[in-house]
Amino acid sequence: MLEKIEELLAEVARFTTTSKEEIEQFRIQYNGKKGILNDLFEKFKEVPNEQKKEFGQKINTLKQAVAAKLDELKAATATQIVVEKEDLTKPAFPLELGTRHPINLVRNRIVEIFKSIGFAVADGPEIEDDWHNFSALNMPEYHPARDMQDTFFIEQNPDMLLRTHTSSVQIRYMENNEPPIRILAPGRVFRNEAVSSRSHCIFHQIEGLYIDENVSFADLKQTIQFFTTELFGKSKIRMRPSYFPFTEPSAEVDVYWGLNSETDYRITKGTGWLEIMGCGMVDPAVLKNVNIDPDQYSGYAFGMGIERIVMLLHQMGDIRMFFENDKRMLEQFGHL
Ligand code: PHE
Repeated sequence: MLEKIEELLAEVARFTTTSKEEIEQFRIQYNGKKGILNDLFEKFKEVPNEQKKEFGQKINTLKQAVAAKLDELKAATATQIVVEKEDLTKPAFPLELGTRHPINLVRNRIVEIFKSIGFAVADGPEIEDDWHNFSALNMPEYHPARDMQDTFFIEQNPDMLLRTHTSSVQIRYMENNEPPIRILAPGRVFRNEAVSSRSHCIFHQIEGLYIDENVSFADLKQTIQFFTTELFGKSKIRMRPSYFPFTEPSAEVDVYWGLNSETDYRITKGTGWLEIMGCGMVDPAVLKNVNIDPDQYSGYAFGMGIERIVMLLHQMGDIRMFFENDKRMLEQFGHL
């Protein structure tokens, strides 16, 4: 039996590990209720009296060796834990500051420009009803112009849809306010279009609306010219006749971008002109729909896509980048 204890002593001395589970196993193996030490103490009772002293000492030596080993191994893993944990005296990690999304930056800039000439910002729901998105805007059911904007309808209620433009906000505002009205409606819009580098099913628009007595097309043109000069630093614009159901007459606005660089040639397809928005005089039928007397009041409206303008300002080639939340792209706009 003495030999057996010697062997155990050697085994304890040899034992080493860094695993907490193995340390625990080792502890149970020796110190557990049915462990080796208890077993030895049991056997110790049967040892003849004259040998008791020698045995007792040996068993105690083993007990101490096990305790010392456990202390040693625990201390080793304990220091390891401290290393794994944060050193609380270390300087904190630098906090990364978020940056504004380029869409927001440009939207804010556009809002600022129009605010400086008296426009207020109006808001409306993204889930709209047919009336505010189409019918009130002179697009009754089965009007072919509805096809110009492929629409996401809400399955459970065919009268509800995701707004295809922010003109719906203009209707809501006119329903609830008396002229003079001078508002901007920035917001997300949705169209059921195939996603590509040039178009997306979600994008952002800003529309403007001005209703008062004696508002003329000349007012519209001056306002847009002021806007393009402020935003792009370019004051040469042209207006091409166009069609929108809610404006009459309607026009498409081009800015003269110039042909000074290779990029200018590329983005203007060699013409120097860039289309930036649609606009027109609010159709009297629309005014009637919102109970504004078209004989007393007239007004203009305009609408532009923000993505397109950001892409122009920053020479970006793919609209999908706006929705991918790639930090590398977003960080490039942090300084703006
Ligand atoms: N709502 C139009 C569109 O989304 C843009 C527009 C607004 C045109 C106001 C004219 C006047 O295409």
